[in-house]
Amino acid sequence: MEKLVVTGPTQLKGEVVISGAKNAAVALLPATLLIDGVCTIENLPNISDIQISCKILEELGAKITWNSQHSITIDTTNIVTTKAPLDLTSKFRASYYVIGAMLGRMGEIEVGMPGGCKLGARPIDQHIKGFERLGATVSLEKGTIYAKAKKLKGTSIYMDIVSVGATINVMLAAVLAKGTTIIDNAAKEPHIVDVANFLNTMGADIRGAGTDVIKINGVEKLHGGATYSVVPDQIEAGTFMLAAVATRGDLLLKNCITKHLESITAKIIEVGGNVEDNGDSIRVWCNKRPSKANIKTLPYPGFPTDLQPQMGVVLSLANGTSTINESIWDSRFQYTDELNKMGAKITAQGKNAFFEGVKKLHGAPVYSTDLRAGAALVVAGTTAEGVTEIYNLQHIDRGYENIEEKFRKIGAKIERVKE
Ligand code: UD1
Repeated sequence: MEKLVVTGPTQLKGEVVISGAKNAAVALLPATLLIDGVCTIENLPNISDIQISCKILEELGAKITWNSQHSITIDTTNIVTTKAPLDLTSKFRASYYVIGAMLGRMGEIEVGMPGGCKLGARPIDQHIKGFERLGATVSLEKGTIYAKAKKLKGTSIYMDIVSVGATINVMLAAVLAKGTTIIDNAAKEPHIVDVANFLNTMGADIRGAGTDVIKINGVEKLHGGATYSVVPDQIEAGTFMLAAVATRGDLLLKNCITKHLESITAKIIEVGGNVEDNGDSIRVWCNKRPSKANIKTLPYPGFPTDLQPQMGVVLSLANGTSTINESIWDSRFQYTDELNKMGAKITAQGKNAFFEGVKKLHGAPVYSTDLRAGAALVVAGTTAEGVTEIYNLQHIDRGYENIEEKFRKIGAKIERVKE
């Protein structure tokens, strides 16, 4: 078993190069299944979700060559099976993108129910509704999803809920469908735009990604031959922005799209931090104790739920009492028990949590309950006095590349230790 040992407090200072977005990359890889040819993807984050995505593609018949740690060439000319490996697909949530892509390319797929962070109920009814509207039949038996279609046909689909996953999955399925598909009430996250841009580079005809109506004109075929670079990770950038505030440090984050960070920037300024927006880099610094603030998580362009725990660390240390209303997930406050072990005073009730700010946190053994909670504990450990031991690193490794190295470079005293 491995743990991260963080000795604090430290003020984080220096530069961080932000990696490619996990949530874009885990969709771009299955999207390559729609291509009858070869393509290269660059700026891939080197994280465990990507390693597993590659294994799933290889089992389906793709040939993958690693050009470097962050670049792969994928040949999806030959797909050899429509059964995705159940053990691998159950390891993370985004494995469900194989369904949309394989329905589009092969008209058939058998896949395990997706796994991923336990953030409360994670239904996929909107995905299934979209596939069925396009003409597929979908059934669920003993944890396996069977989806089949003779030929998908374009149609209009109204999403009852703004869902990132359903928007991308239905978009994937519609790219090679006959006719035009309209997705109404679509999600607008940067990674949705990234997937649409990637597919359009390969010959798809998708318009309106990034707005709440996406129009997909079906095409006969996607060609390969192009190189695509994954969009910078909004959530990794936001994690370091909030780490700068929590530790009263000064960080310059390079390789980010500051437009994607506006909701975080606004809250940082509200709590008394400073932000210098340079377009493709952002500097965040804070010289004083943050002030209280109220947060409500919302779909993009609102404050992202995936930065809620990291913001929770800032508010734990703020002057005054703050509230967070989590509007996306039912069970995203498990991390507050861990922060309370470190001296925070947080009361979580259902989808709300109340943060009575304390002057400082102290080190303690804590457990990462999900991916972003794990990142929040690293930030908390850096601000805290004494030694924090963080367990359950498999969550963190799913989504943060070299987290300890990136934190060490900006002054954190952090080690990965094998027990
Ligand atoms: C994606 C992100 C995740 C982030 C979330 C919200 C990836 C791989 N993961 O997850 O990190 O926290 O967006 O920004 O990109 N819902 C339904 N029915 C559905 C689908 C979703 O009711 O068919 C509900 C969910 O339970 C949730 C809400 O819609 O309450 C949003 O979920 P969704 O946007 O689909 O999240 P994911 O795509 O799973």
